[in-house]
Amino acid sequence: MTVEIKTDRLALRPWQDSDVDFVFDLYSRWVVQRFIGTEPAVMESRSEAVERLERFKALDHPIHGIWAVTRKEDGLPVGALLLKPIPASGEEPLQVSDDVEIGWHFHPDHWGSGYASEAATAVLEHAFDAGLEQVVAVTNPVNEASQSVCRRIGMEHQGQTKKYYNARCELFVIENPATAQPAN
Ligand SMILES: CC(C)(COP(=O)(O)OP(=O)(O)OC[C@H]1O[C@@H](n2cnc3c(N)ncnc32)[C@H](O)[C@@H]1OP(=O)(O)O)[C@@H](O)C(=O)NCCC(=O)NCCS
Repeated sequence: MTVEIKTDRLALRPWQDSDVDFVFDLYSRWVVQRFIGTEPAVMESRSEAVERLERFKALDHPIHGIWAVTRKEDGLPVGALLLKPIPASGEEPLQVSDDVEIGWHFHPDHWGSGYASEAATAVLEHAFDAGLEQVVAVTNPVNEASQSVCRRIGMEHQGQTKKYYNARCELFVIENPATAQPAN
């Protein structure tokens, strides 16, 4: 059961069947997809959006989730926020690793509003309140907008890695402040 999370301006909620048009609009855009995956491709049909929505809804976990990020003032969906086990590099199909990643996909109409950082900050708080020790994020090396979100929410850049997704990515990490070991 994906828990609902509220921030000053946003409500993060489970996906609903009525979100299919938003999902199609979001993932059919090259500016959204261009840095996602090793072979970026836009969504081409509404039926793919229906399948994606079903996958989103299937992630039923007390801590992990894929949330619909909506604006509180009018309920408008503005993006997706993800907290889930990250696939390790290896033979296809990739198997998930023990690490948990945070990620964000926002509609370009709503970039530049601070929504991704606001939603991600709240999801990190949820993750750490639930006891996760660490959360990672990976980005395409040229995805500066996403790297800025990582920095804004307090993640530390740890250089490049090929550990995940069979891809060379920039790695960002944040430790749970309640359980982090002090540096010597
Ligand atoms: C990555 C992505 C979510 C970043 O979106 P974003 O809107 O730039 O990120 P934020 O929510 O942190 O917003 C920050 C911007 O809002 C501005 N802003 C306006 N009001 C703000 C507020 N109240 N609080 C914080 N920032 C605010 C900031 O100044 C900043 O603008 P700038 O980049 O021009 O300096 C977006 O580009 C995206 O969805 N891209 C496609 C998908 C993708 O690549 N995902 C990542 C895969 S790894």
